[in-house]
Amino acid sequence: MLRYLTAGESHGKTLVGILEGFPSNMPINEKYIALQLKRRRIVPGRSSRQKIETDNFEIISGLYKGKTTGAPIGLLVPNKKISPKLSQNSSPRPGHADFAAMLKYDIHQSALIRERASARETCMRVGLGSFAMRFLQLLGINIKSRVISLASADLNKSNKSITAKLEEAAKKGETLGGTFEIRVENPPIGLGSHNQWDKKISADIGKQLLSLNAVKGVEIGGGFKLAEMNGLDSIDGFEIENGKICRTSNMAGGIEGGITNGQDIIFRCAMKAVPGIKKGTRSINLKTGSKTLICSDTSDTTAVFAGAVIGEYLTALELSNHILKKFGGDSFDEIKDRLFLWNKQISKKLRKK
Ligand SMILES: Cc1cc2nc3c(=O)[nH]c(=O)nc-3n(C[C@H](O)[C@H](O)[C@H](O)COP(=O)(O)O)c2cc1C
Repeated sequence: MLRYLTAGESHGKTLVGILEGFPSNMPINEKYIALQLKRRRIVPGRSSRQKIETDNFEIISGLYKGKTTGAPIGLLVPNKKISPKLSQNSSPRPGHADFAAMLKYDIHQSALIRERASARETCMRVGLGSFAMRFLQLLGINIKSRVISLASADLNKSNKSITAKLEEAAKKGETLGGTFEIRVENPPIGLGSHNQWDKKISADIGKQLLSLNAVKGVEIGGGFKLAEMNGLDSIDGFEIENGKICRTSNMAGGIEGGITNGQDIIFRCAMKAVPGIKKGTRSINLKTGSKTLICSDTSDTTAVFAGAVIGEYLTALELSNHILKKFGGDSFDEIKDRLFLWNKQISKKLRKK
């Protein structure tokens, strides 16, 4: 089983991550990890902080001479923007974890909540997810993402450029939500199981994606549209093409009954507009009861493009976990051989004259 944990604050000394259960002998180099971390930073909509944080990192365990060792992978991403003195403000920012967490943990400084609740943490998830992404790529499985909509505009149909939309929003001091899609190409058949609720891969990937800050909705395949369709149109029929059993569509998004069916896995996520707004949001000081206005000068204009990239790595972590559960094995070659054999057996079963 693959597990990961993160620690670290937004303006603390360093982000820390542990990836446990990762197989040995998988080749990976620092350049590859640096490239993945960069992908999260250089997308549209991000604040100036992304220029400060270059996400230089250090692998402190689990890697030797460019190959994983099977030991827990330890990753550090030191922050450049460190704030040893945090604001003493007791006003929770609406739309963030502040209010509920301040009451839950009996903490009077909203900054102490913000520091951990911030999406800076997702940098570490991309860092750890890089190992999973590489693992899948070497097994011939690719994960891609695309932003579908920004605010209410469909990016396929809109004639206004993304940059123009973002500039307009930034000028007005507004933030924008949107939707993005994650697609897994060439997944093996049979990951997950219908036999127990907590073995369904749909629920596991869904949990990863819902754990991403600001994600408020997740759909699989046809998703919410399926609710409006009749039964016949919403199922994926069977056909024989070129002597092989195949499917006529992919409304299920590659997962039926909690099991991958060999088609591309498709998830879509809805992200809210980030709640940190330049013009300010109204709050109340929990200590004094006085009304306050919280202005956020350093907020991203949108997190949708970054969210799409992060979603890829979260999906990679969960998919790798399911591959390890199904095929077992401790070293990369062992798993690769088992997957190869499995795919060969399945394709034999699907071949029909
Ligand atoms: C990549 C990314 C960047 C984000 N950047 C900001 C930001 O700059 N300002 C902000 O207020 N919220 C930002 N958010 C959203 C908040 O982290 C999130 O809305 C908040 O922690 C409350 O959590 P919830 O929306 O999941 O309930 C970002 C989210 C992601 C995924």
